[in-house]
Amino acid sequence: MGIYLVFIIGAVIVSRSQGHAVDYLKFPDDLLLGAASSSYQVEGAWNEDGKGENIWDRMTHANPEKIDDRSTGDIACDAYHKTKEDIALMKDLGLQFYRFSISWSRILPTGFPNKINQAGIDYYNDLINQLLANNIIPMVTVYHWDLPQPLQDLGGFANPEIINWLKDYAKVVFDHFGDRVKTWITINEPKQICEFGYGTGMFAPGLQAGGIGNYLCTHNLLKAHAHIYHMYDKIYRRNQKGHIGITAECSWSEPATNATQDIEAAERRRQFDFGMYMNPIFHKNGDYPAVVKQFVAKRSKEEGFPRSRLPEFTQQEINFIKGTSDFFGLNHYTTVLVKDKKADPIGDPSQDKDTRVETFQDPNWLTGSFSYFRSVPWGLRKALNYIKHNYGNPEILITENGFPDAESFNDQGRIRYYKDNLKAVLDAIYTDHVRITVYTAWSLMDNFEWSSGYTVRFGLYHVDFNDTNRPRTPKESVKFYKNLIKTRRLNT
Ligand code: NOJ
Repeated sequence: MGIYLVFIIGAVIVSRSQGHAVDYLKFPDDLLLGAASSSYQVEGAWNEDGKGENIWDRMTHANPEKIDDRSTGDIACDAYHKTKEDIALMKDLGLQFYRFSISWSRILPTGFPNKINQAGIDYYNDLINQLLANNIIPMVTVYHWDLPQPLQDLGGFANPEIINWLKDYAKVVFDHFGDRVKTWITINEPKQICEFGYGTGMFAPGLQAGGIGNYLCTHNLLKAHAHIYHMYDKIYRRNQKGHIGITAECSWSEPATNATQDIEAAERRRQFDFGMYMNPIFHKNGDYPAVVKQFVAKRSKEEGFPRSRLPEFTQQEINFIKGTSDFFGLNHYTTVLVKDKKADPIGDPSQDKDTRVETFQDPNWLTGSFSYFRSVPWGLRKALNYIKHNYGNPEILITENGFPDAESFNDQGRIRYYKDNLKAVLDAIYTDHVRITVYTAWSLMDNFEWSSGYTVRFGLYHVDFNDTNRPRTPKESVKFYKNLIKTRRLNT
């Protein structure tokens, strides 16, 4: 029986590939390979040519202690002045696409569309045109964390008006660039925006309102995303013919033991980590995951709140948000082990107080200069399968994946990370039939790594931040990625 099965499966594989055995290390023709960055992390030119102040400008200037090396993105990689040079690097790598984000305050200095900064529009037009002239597809994130400060002064994501602000900004973006940009990511990583920006305060705007601010932010952000999607769908899609979705960071949560409470804790952490943001959009029932609603309500009650700190969607809102993404944008870096945690101190500002989990990692997992980002390829494969099974087998765009190697140039750890994680991607494609159409290396070059400043480097290209010219130098991983894109095959 076994032998017959092997024979039949073998025959199917051979016949599917028209007589040739499938090469499981070869990337499918329709999988795009590229690299990414984001505006605040690379552009610099923070107050040039009419750009307005954003929340990262403000926080790095007003609270330098929030950044490990007290640095800022004032100059960053100086990408604002190096479009041509950077495109030459991309071209040399052979990138099929480049994912970058638009700085809201560069094109709308006040945050509002009453004043459009033409210099900002010109900068992105030039970037997009040069990419296209070099056969590199532009993939654009509308919002990657750099909210205009004037909008923060009005409450930022905690103010429901953010829905209109984001929508008006997105309209300007679609109007100016949508003729040439066909892949849009509305918002990058809602959890990090809300939990770190309004919960723990680690990221700008640095508010510590854990358990309330982060949920208000989430609620408004999800509605804003849905409004942008519907606007694109109704007004732009027919002429511009693009696709649009959202990206979340999905680390993998693995139960630390086989005990039922740890298995449940791991699932709970997944739901708090990304389910809270993606369930309302991708799950067939929409809304926040039941376990998230239940746990926030429980803890709110213990703390004496008259109702849950998690806002509720109306049925109309649930229907409005459901289905508002043409693809599942996935950023993935690492895996954590999860244990159930019964007692949490009242007053813990992080969302973990509602999640009631403890997380840790295996010290044997490969790590770089920031110990959290450990390489766990099986975790990526499990995350991909989880998304497939829980969210109706969506098309998945891996919009970020990468490793902060401690070595500046001979970054063998990063190469190992890419090899192992890309193998997991290929296994997910060929063996698990997960629909993956994009793979994005984070990042094209070393850049401003948020609260870690320049102490953590994710780049394929090294950037010398001590030199005012910010020279870029290829690391060993450039050779690896270049060869991979050229041969479209993974040599493990
Ligand atoms: C995800 C974020 O989108 C990106 O901005 C950041 O640099 C990487 N993770 C690495 O932390």
